[in-house]
Amino acid sequence: MNPHFEAIADGLAEHGYAVINQFLSQHEVDAILKLEDLRDMANMKRAGIGNSQSLQIQEGIRGDYINWLDRETAPQPVKVYLTRLDELIMFINQSLYLSLKDYEVHFTKYPPGTFYKRHLDQFKSDDHRKLSAILYLNENWKEDEGGALRMYLQDKTLDILPEAGRLVCFRSDKIEHEVLPATRERLSITGWLLDRLAELKHL
Ligand code: OGA
Ligand code: MN
Repeated sequence: MNPHFEAIADGLAEHGYAVINQFLSQHEVDAILKLEDLRDMANMKRAGIGNSQSLQIQEGIRGDYINWLDRETAPQPVKVYLTRLDELIMFINQSLYLSLKDYEVHFTKYPPGTFYKRHLDQFKSDDHRKLSAILYLNENWKEDEGGALRMYLQDKTLDILPEAGRLVCFRSDKIEHEVLPATRERLSITGWLLDRLAELKHL
């Protein structure tokens, strides 16, 4: 069993979130970063706001570019991560008595200066996103480069730097958060664990 899973389940149960360093090893992150096609702008599209029924592009809210991923077509180094998410779903279902069934995941690039304003990941019209899981892919991130994930907790805010290999997992219905602008490109794989099967994403 993956030694990090228990810490994730405990963090979720106690605080509604967990931060795990080295969820992917340096070697596993490097293999993903070598996939030039994944972050080639030609393969990415502007992220929107809302679900597939009411998708809008609003630069004043979020400025990232995304590339949807799936189990069958993802390159091998990404599959390593997706397989780990499947194992995490099984573990969390057993330990927290949830009934997660699938995930939806995209590769994400925030060009310098872009951000994502404070929001909740669960849509008002669609509550199938139960847990958010973000894996960061940025080597040697410095605090003064900005780009933190800021989580709004009950009595404080918590800033998490998008350091390579780090996983942040939190309750999609409870924890408001934002992405602060950065002075360098910021890469991640962003996902949601769902209580139903994922819809097909249009490329
Ligand atoms: C999101 C999001 C946070 C991050 O894509 O919904 O909030 O740290 N991402 O990238
Ligand atoms: Mn979010």
